[in-house]
Amino acid sequence: MRENPLVLHVLGARPNFVKAAPVVRALGELGVRQGIIHTGQHYDALMSDVFFADLGLPEPMANLGVGSGTHAKQTAALLVGLEEVFQEHEPDLVVVYGDVNSTLAAILVCAKLGIRSAHVEAGLRSFDRGMPEEVNRIVTDSLSDLLFTTSPEALSFLAREGVSPDKVHFVGNPMIDSLFSALPGLDPAPIVERLAIPTRYAVATLHRPANVDTPEAARELVDAVLDVSRQIPVVVPIHPRGRTRLAEAGLVDGPAVKVVDPLGYVDFLSLVRGASLVVTDSGGVQEETTMLGVPCLTVRPNTERPVTITHGTNRLVTPALLPAAAEKALADGASTPSGELPPLWDGAAGPRIARVIAAWLKGDNLAPASQGTRAE
Ligand code: UD1
Ligand code: UDP
Repeated sequence: MRENPLVLHVLGARPNFVKAAPVVRALGELGVRQGIIHTGQHYDALMSDVFFADLGLPEPMANLGVGSGTHAKQTAALLVGLEEVFQEHEPDLVVVYGDVNSTLAAILVCAKLGIRSAHVEAGLRSFDRGMPEEVNRIVTDSLSDLLFTTSPEALSFLAREGVSPDKVHFVGNPMIDSLFSALPGLDPAPIVERLAIPTRYAVATLHRPANVDTPEAARELVDAVLDVSRQIPVVVPIHPRGRTRLAEAGLVDGPAVKVVDPLGYVDFLSLVRGASLVVTDSGGVQEETTMLGVPCLTVRPNTERPVTITHGTNRLVTPALLPAAAEKALADGASTPSGELPPLWDGAAGPRIARVIAAWLKGDNLAPASQGTRAE
């Protein structure tokens, strides 16, 4: 390893920023030389800049500006841009996050250039290869040198796919670290006032291709959300992916449904904290509602985050069952089957990851997680 090794973090989409912030902070505290490469997969100020500000992330060293496109076009642009930037900066380790196309492209470029890589949030599986994210997860995990898992079941899923347990470190959930840091500042009152909504409300965020990419799916979903809005006003901070299709299906601003631009991290979580119910198909929001103890109905047939059901407030629903499930959730309030948070959701995942990386850079390999819920 070089005298002063360089770690590059590849970030592209909204959830990446939230997961990376605690890792970047903790590595900084250990004095590790590092930089952020922003791929530009998400580029609107409300999908990107606001997260750098809210999470205290340092300015990226480079922004590749790859933007939107089909999977092939976007991934191709990512591969070309990342290869150039890695050849220029010669990182000793590249850290990738989650399951977006930027994650997949970065890990492929590392594998081809012989650059060592680490995957934060490894081993999550929905077992649904119809999701683009599931393909990204499988490929990313198979090519990573260090795998940081957020959930105990990940280790066995990875082992089944032939990943050596020696590479896997169960460290907890850095997205929850970010939430812990933000928690003291999460106040629903200002955002409720700004949006001019009643103090009892639900929040809905919907952007999965299976829910928003066809007129039929969008219509079924919107009908269900409108049904919920007859029980409780619903605020919808709309992801750009679903904006047009959901509007065409009838999700428009009205007395019972408030459709707003995507919210910044602090505004969004403040809104969620004060909500009586959340309806979502987001990965991260399933976790955040579990941590905040807010009832969450996830409009998906599966989840790669089962701890949010076994240890949290999350329930899977179909669009057809959403209105009745909302009625029940509003009557019952939040209930968590186990009564305790998922293991290692303690706000210290970032420092655990940083310790493993720092030791690895020095040539030491900290003992990986062998079984169960042991932390590094
Ligand atoms: C991506 C991830 C998804 C993740 C989500 C987080 C992949 C395959 N998908 O989905 O796993 O849950 O990010 O939010 O990587 N757009 C804008 N402005 C932006 C960004 C996107 O208008 O700043 C619009 C464009 O029309 C674009 C569409 O959103 O075509 C989809 O963007 P893209 O990054 O391809 O995928 P997401 O649906 O955002
Ligand atoms: N989020 C946000 N504003 C919004 C919607 C979501 O700040 O309007 C945050 C949310 O709190 C979580 C992250 O964005 O931290 C999740 O991103 P997203 O749902 O886009 O992606 P996923 O987790 O589904 O991959």
